[in-house]
Amino acid sequence: MSPPQHIPVLPAEILDALSPNPGETYVDCTAGLGGHAASIAPHLPPGGRVVLNDLDAINLAHAIGHAESAAPGVEVTGFHGNFAALPGQLVREGLQADMVLADLGFASNQMSDPARGFAFSTDGPLDMRLDPSRGMTARELLETLPEAELVRILREYGEEKAARPIARKIVAARAEGSISTTGQLAALVRSVVRSGGAINPATRTFQAFRIAVNDELGSLEGLLAAVERAARSTGEGWLAAGARVAIVSFHSLEDRLVKQSFARLEQRGLAEMVGEQPTVPSEAEVHDNPRSRSAKLRTIRVIANT
Ligand SMILES: C[S@@+](CC[C@H](N)C(=O)[O-])C[C@H]1O[C@@H](n2cnc3c(N)ncnc32)[C@H](O)[C@@H]1O
Repeated sequence: MSPPQHIPVLPAEILDALSPNPGETYVDCTAGLGGHAASIAPHLPPGGRVVLNDLDAINLAHAIGHAESAAPGVEVTGFHGNFAALPGQLVREGLQADMVLADLGFASNQMSDPARGFAFSTDGPLDMRLDPSRGMTARELLETLPEAELVRILREYGEEKAARPIARKIVAARAEGSISTTGQLAALVRSVVRSGGAINPATRTFQAFRIAVNDELGSLEGLLAAVERAARSTGEGWLAAGARVAIVSFHSLEDRLVKQSFARLEQRGLAEMVGEQPTVPSEAEVHDNPRSRSAKLRTIRVIANT
């Protein structure tokens, strides 16, 4: 069987923004299939270390293999878990990052596997967990949340104008036990929203529930808070003096959090911006990798503060 594929977004721009040096430690919060890690790892010898983290244990294993074969001399360490908990892990292990990357969201192999429940175009169980070993599935959320909470999720995380009628329909459908697959949820949305314009009408609903199932904004807030704390005393915590922190987001809710957090650090004189804010893919990249079209990269360099 051929290995799963995921084309890394903004590869040259991320390499440029992180500017790896021999002997440095690269921390990848969202290792995925290891594409970015494999492009950065060869710049780290002699010495150097790659720390890979992912909520998805299968992806993490692929990423470790990919990074090890890209740079045989480099020490590779893996952590399975939420990146919000990664700074604490690094401190416990006595590790300090010179570069941090978070390439948010999901990988192509997660989206294309119907059993994971992320896709509305193929039928599968309504799961949507990035870590299928723990937490509530999308089906359990849809079965248990009060209608008002469903409306909030659809509005806030999906920016869905038809949040109220979709939530009402979900509540009616769940009473009959008829909402356990991605195909059923997609059909339910289509029965309320006839046209989504250029996009499939189910896109916003699926995005909303994926964000809720994985507490994606809460995780990002946790990571950004840990960056802000560490930037106040670099060299003592998990960020080395001069560390570069790069975050790629795929929707405006995430990008707003990153932009505001980085701006706070800059205003306090704790970090400086690196490169265009935000850096977006070229037309050629969007053509070759349509998934990159909404990617926004923001990078800071933390100023030494001890
Ligand atoms: C866009 S992919 C990363 C692709 C990777 N940069 C590459 O080049 O292959 C996002 C990955 O992040 C993981 N992920 C998303 N949110 C996470 C979180 N809060 N903590 C840890 N991993 C997360 C997903 O499981 C997925 O494998």
